Amino acid sequence: MTTLIVGASGATGRLLIKQLLNADEKVKIIVRSADTFYSVLPDEIRQDNRLIITEANLLNMTNAELENQVQGCRAVVSCLGHNLSLKGMFGHPRRLVTNAVQRLCQAIEKTAPSLKETPVKFILMNTTGNQNKHDDEKVSTSQALVVTMIRVFLPPHADNEAAAEFLQTRILGNHNQIEWVVVRPDSLTDETSVTEYDVFTSPIRSAIFDAGKTSRINVAHFMSQLVSNVETWNKWKAKMPVIYNVSR
Ligand SMILES: NC(=O)c1ccc[n+]([C@@H]2O[C@H](COP(=O)([O-])OP(=O)(O)OC[C@H]3O[C@@H](n4cnc5c(N)ncnc54)[C@H](OP(=O)(O)O)[C@@H]3O)[C@@H](O)[C@H]2O)c1
Repeated sequence: MTTLIVGASGATGRLLIKQLLNADEKVKIIVRSADTFYSVLPDEIRQDNRLIITEANLLNMTNAELENQVQGCRAVVSCLGHNLSLKGMFGHPRRLVTNAVQRLCQAIEKTAPSLKETPVKFILMNTTGNQNKHDDEKVSTSQALVVTMIRVFLPPHADNEAAAEFLQTRILGNHNQIEWVVVRPDSLTDETSVTEYDVFTSPIRSAIFDAGKTSRINVAHFMSQLVSNVETWNKWKAKMPVIYNVSR
């Protein structure tokens, strides 16, 4: 089975490639610079012939090119995020994640068979700072105020919210071709191996005033479980699970 990852050159995306290859999945990725990507990739992954790399700027790809990418994939994962630079945060594309999610879903709708039994899984890496309003999640007034300011002054946050909103409102339960999960980690950290983690339906702490930790490798592990494990998928589909490391 094949999974397409976008944002695969990022800190979490790279870890997801490894997790999926370890689970004997085939992986397709689209990266802006294959050279930069190769320079950070361990040899054993670079030489793995189950990994297919396309060098392209995702949002500049034509519809036909995107359709070609998603064709035959049983899962599509977005680990996209705005680079932490002035250009990445405030320049274009302001709607990197949302536009990518919308266009990839359109490409799936164009190419995937319309069979309720075999929908394509769409997994979006998002953030606990994004409140699931459709599930009636509540936050304190002070958190709502801070998030409103973040939304106004930090375009990537509004982009993350809009991308999740698109899946929630456009890809509904009766969609025959696509099912989705929006994965919400808290503050991301880097660890070398998978550790114990908990997954909740909604945040159990304030993303602003009492943020927890989630290691990228645990996010990658959970997303690979969503791809390859039917029970994990059925438990979380059409939800926005929140993932935290278990602190010891
Ligand atoms: N930082 C946190 O504590 C935190 C907490 C919760 C959630 N999140 C969310 O987690 C997600 C991923 O985090 P991460 O740290 O793994 O991300 P990351 O290392 O910054 O990776 C971002 C990925 O997006 C790609 N990208 C950026 N701008 C692009 C563009 N204009 N066109 C195409 N691709 C582009 C990058 O490609 P290049 O390699 O080509 O630049 C890279 O593959 C983000 O959505 C972030 O909001 C972050």
